[in-house]
Amino acid sequence: MAKLGLEALVILAYLFQICIAATAQDLPLYLPREKPEWAEHLSPNLASFSIEMDTWPDWAGKKVGEPNEYFNQILRNLGERTGHMPFLRVGAISQDRATIDLQYEVMNATFPEPTPQAPNPQADHIFIGRDFYALSGNLPEGTSFMWGLNLKDLNKTETVAQAQLLAESFIGSRAHLTSKMSLEYVELGNEPDFWGPTRWGSYRGPYGPEWNTLNYTATWVDFAKAVSGVFHTGESETEKPKLSPGGFTGFMSPEWTPQGPLLAGLLDDPDIRERTSQFTEHAYSGGFDPYGNVRPGELMNKLSVRANMSAIVSRRHAVQGAGLRYVLTFSHGQPGLSNTVESALWAADWLLLGASYGIERLHFHHGIGYRYNLVQPVDSSDDGLNITRPHILPSYHAFLIVNEAIGKSGDSYVTELSTTDLNMTAYGIWETNVLVRAVVLNTQVYLGEGEKPGIEVQLIGPGAQRPCTVKRLNSDTTTSFTGM
Ligand SMILES: *[C@@H]1O[C@H](CO)[C@@H](O)[C@H](O)[C@H]1NC(C)=O
Ligand SMILES: *[C@@H]1O[C@H](CO)[C@@H](O)[C@H](O)[C@H]1NC(C)=O
Ligand SMILES: *[C@@H]1O[C@H](CO)[C@@H](O)[C@H](O)[C@H]1NC(C)=O
Ligand SMILES: *[C@@H]1O[C@H](CO)[C@@H](O)[C@H](O)[C@H]1NC(C)=O
Ligand SMILES: *[C@@H]1O[C@H](CO)[C@@H](O)[C@H](O)[C@H]1NC(C)=O
Ligand SMILES: *[C@@H]1O[C@H](CO)[C@@H](O)[C@H](O)[C@H]1NC(C)=O
Repeated sequence: MAKLGLEALVILAYLFQICIAATAQDLPLYLPREKPEWAEHLSPNLASFSIEMDTWPDWAGKKVGEPNEYFNQILRNLGERTGHMPFLRVGAISQDRATIDLQYEVMNATFPEPTPQAPNPQADHIFIGRDFYALSGNLPEGTSFMWGLNLKDLNKTETVAQAQLLAESFIGSRAHLTSKMSLEYVELGNEPDFWGPTRWGSYRGPYGPEWNTLNYTATWVDFAKAVSGVFHTGESETEKPKLSPGGFTGFMSPEWTPQGPLLAGLLDDPDIRERTSQFTEHAYSGGFDPYGNVRPGELMNKLSVRANMSAIVSRRHAVQGAGLRYVLTFSHGQPGLSNTVESALWAADWLLLGASYGIERLHFHHGIGYRYNLVQPVDSSDDGLNITRPHILPSYHAFLIVNEAIGKSGDSYVTELSTTDLNMTAYGIWETNVLVRAVVLNTQVYLGEGEKPGIEVQLIGPGAQRPCTVKRLNSDTTTSFTGM
């Protein structure tokens, strides 16, 4: 392979071998001399988790003081590469089905029967017990949290009761349990754009057309003031946690976009403005379909990854224009794609493309047994791989690669590097104006027939003659589940 330019440059992550003479495509990759003007800062929390809270004890450990050591080790492996533990959002669909019941120590969740359409259904109800939020203290030291509270019931007494128990676990009488953790954000409600009529009959929510962005904005501000009051009493005045509006699916755009609430006065109240620093949305690059016709290559396809990311550009622009961070939480759910090595390539591209668009964090959705997880934290997580112990899935490698690319300096920047071919995608990472690492993805599809294709990357550009270190992710085929 070509010699690589800059000292300390590390090339990370290919799908297949890069130097297979017979069938290798020979492709140039130009390494620019300086950091491009449009390079974006890389947050150490770029690659984040979103955990469905109906199975929270499976991730955090069943009791206070009894952590899940397997999941914690996974988090430490990731944290080692950036110097920061991964950021966890806990909540999602089940957060709006939860109510407090302090007779329980941790929780009581009841689940509907699985169906072919929903093999891993979310709980239909959760009773939140005394130690539910305090389990946060079981995670590795330095873990940051965004906790979700129930807004959908439109019952302020309940939402405030949840905020009070959460506050007790982080800043109140039980704060000693979580003293090494950071509660960064509190989210009110998940996917409120699906609570009224939608364009899809089967996804109709409980409310009528009066549930619109104007109503959402007034309701959110009203509840946010009440919750804010819980966290800021007396002299324990602290900047944390901040409030996190949004959580929109994105499917109800253009009626439901961040612009709606921003125009409707979401941030008009000075206290709320002060306490709000991000707006989140969700992005589904594909959903679960039991009869889905899987076409290997379509998930990691360079054009569709860019088309999906481009769909949110105007929304991100509005949020950032209003002085807030734009954060995405999302998933891709198709077995045969989301649990294969293809998903690792998709996730690495999606994360770094998002970062190069100025998105600070992208949270990957997780539940027990979900095909698109990075990790299954318990023995009983049946995800179709027939593994009866905690295990990783292919997209875990994407988080390792991306975190290694971000590095520990706290001052790295990313841009996408142009390539001349749709089979190759590349990113450059700069520290103090020096290109220190590059990530190159080979998205050639190989299903095991004939000779495995490859790409020979010709590095060109200023100083492309000095040695570098190469680290590779290899797999047998595009559809491999294991063996990376
Ligand atoms: C959990 O809640 C369900 C539904 O309310 C109830 O039937 C069940 O008895 C509860 N379980 C326990 C252990 O209390
Ligand atoms: C609202 O929540 C409170 C506290 O959980 C509960 O006692 C009350 O019954 C709820 N109100 C309604 C209308 O459900
Ligand atoms: C907002 O929507 C809720 C749920 O449908 C409804 O109860 C409430 O009256 C609405 N508020 C306004 C101001 O329309
Ligand atoms: C988003 O990606 C999926 C594949 O993961 C693709 O089917 C879909 O067409 C893409 N969306 C757009 C807008 O291109
Ligand atoms: C898991 O086991 C089932 C039933 O034996 C089988 O159909 C399936 O192919 C197995 N999955 C994997 C990934 O080996
Ligand atoms: C991508 O690689 C495949 C397999 O090697 C090849 O058949 C195809 O022509 C390449 N596509 C492009 C756009 O270069």
